[in-house]
Amino acid sequence: MMSLNNKRILLGITGGIAAYKSAELTRMLVKAGAEIHVAMTPSATEFITPLTMQALSGHRVHLDLLDADAEAGMGHIELARWADLIVIAPATADFIARVTHGQADDLLTTVVLASIAPIAIAPAMNQAMWGDDITQTNLKALKSRSIHIWGPAFGEQACGDIGPGRMIEPQEIAERCSGFFENTRLNGIKILMTGGPTREAIDPVRFISNHSSGKMAFALATEAAAAGAQVTLISGPVHLTTPDRVSRIDVESAEQMLSAVMDHIEGADIFIGVAAVADYRPVTAEKQKIKKTKNDMTLTLVKNPDIISTVATLSPAPIVVGFAAETENIDVNGRDKLENKGLDLLFANQATETFNNDEVSIIALSSQSQQTLGPGSKLSVARLMLDLIADQLERKTNQPES
Ligand code: C5P
Repeated sequence: MMSLNNKRILLGITGGIAAYKSAELTRMLVKAGAEIHVAMTPSATEFITPLTMQALSGHRVHLDLLDADAEAGMGHIELARWADLIVIAPATADFIARVTHGQADDLLTTVVLASIAPIAIAPAMNQAMWGDDITQTNLKALKSRSIHIWGPAFGEQACGDIGPGRMIEPQEIAERCSGFFENTRLNGIKILMTGGPTREAIDPVRFISNHSSGKMAFALATEAAAAGAQVTLISGPVHLTTPDRVSRIDVESAEQMLSAVMDHIEGADIFIGVAAVADYRPVTAEKQKIKKTKNDMTLTLVKNPDIISTVATLSPAPIVVGFAAETENIDVNGRDKLENKGLDLLFANQATETFNNDEVSIIALSSQSQQTLGPGSKLSVARLMLDLIADQLERKTNQPES
C-alpha cells in the first residue's frame, strides 16, 4: 500500500510527449497523501496545460522565474526549501544537459540548483538521444551528484522507434516516491542477486532459454538499493535498464552466472537467486552453425550447476533466498525446494502468472512460517519480500553463535 502522508513533492515537468502521463502521476501522488506542487518548463505547457495540473495538484502551477505575482505567492527559493523530494518526470535530454551544467535559466533548473532536497529524474527521450555519449556522460555526472535516475523503460516510442528511452510508468514513479520515504533496514547490507534467464548455446546462432523477463529481480534490486543496501545484480540477457545505485554484471549461461556469483559472494550478507537458470545445457556448443538435414536431430543435454545450492553450502553462508515458479502444488513443491536446497526463505508462485507480468502474488515460505504477499505490482511485492528478508537477517544476527 503506497503511503505518502504529509510528504511534500515538487513535480517538475519538461517538454516531452510523456508529459501527458504527469497528470496521472499527480493524481496517484495526491491519492497516496502527498502534497504536490507542480513546476513546468515553457515547452512542457505545449504538451499539457497548467490548468490541468492545477486542478489535479490543487495548487497554482509554477511557471516563470520572473513572475512577480507568483514569486509573491511562493518564490523559487521558498519552493526549493519546501520540497521533501523533487521529481522531474518527464525529464528531456535538454533538461538533463542544463541541470548537469548547473544552468539556472528557467524556474525548474533554478529550483533544482537551489534545493538541498533529494532529486529524482525520470528520463524520456528518443532511444538514439538516450544512447548518445553526451547524454550518458551527463547522466553519470548527475549520478555522481547523488541525483537519482529512475528508468527509462525499454519499448515502443512515440516516434515509432523501439528501444530504451520511454518514461517509466506513473505507477512505478509513484511507488518509487513512496519507497523513497520508507525505512532503511537494509542500510549498508551487501546483497548479491541473480536475475533474468540464462541462455545455453547450441551453436553460434541458437540457444535454449526461457520466458523470464528479469522484472522481479530488477524490482527487488531497485527496492533493496532504495532501502540502503549495496546491491550487485548478476543478470542474464534482459531488456531492462539498470536500477539506480545497483551494480550490474551481465552474463549469458548458467556456468557464467555461477562463476560471477562465486567471484562476488565474499562479504555478501544476503544472496537472492531470482534467476530462472536453465536446468540443462547442450553437452557441447558447436563452434559452427549446425546445418539442417532431412533427418531429425537429437540434442544431448547435461545438467547445469545449481547456483543457489552451491551458495547455501558455503561456510559461512549468507542468508540465502530462492524463488520457485511452479505450475502446481505451489506450497508443497516450494517447501521441498526450501529444504532440499538449504534455503532460509523461498518465494513461490504460479509460473504462468510470473513471466513478463507486472502484477504478482507470492507465497513466502520459511522454516518458521508461510504467508501470501500481494497480489500487487512487482515493486510493491518486492518491498514486502525485502521486509521478510531483513527479518531473517535480524534473526540470524541475534542468534547466539553455536
Ligand atoms: O529448482 P528450481 O529451478 O525450481 O529452483 C529455483 C531456485 O533455484 C531459484 O532461486 C533459482 O534462481 C535457483 N537455481 C539456481 N541454479 C540452478 C537452478 C535454479 O540457482 N541451476
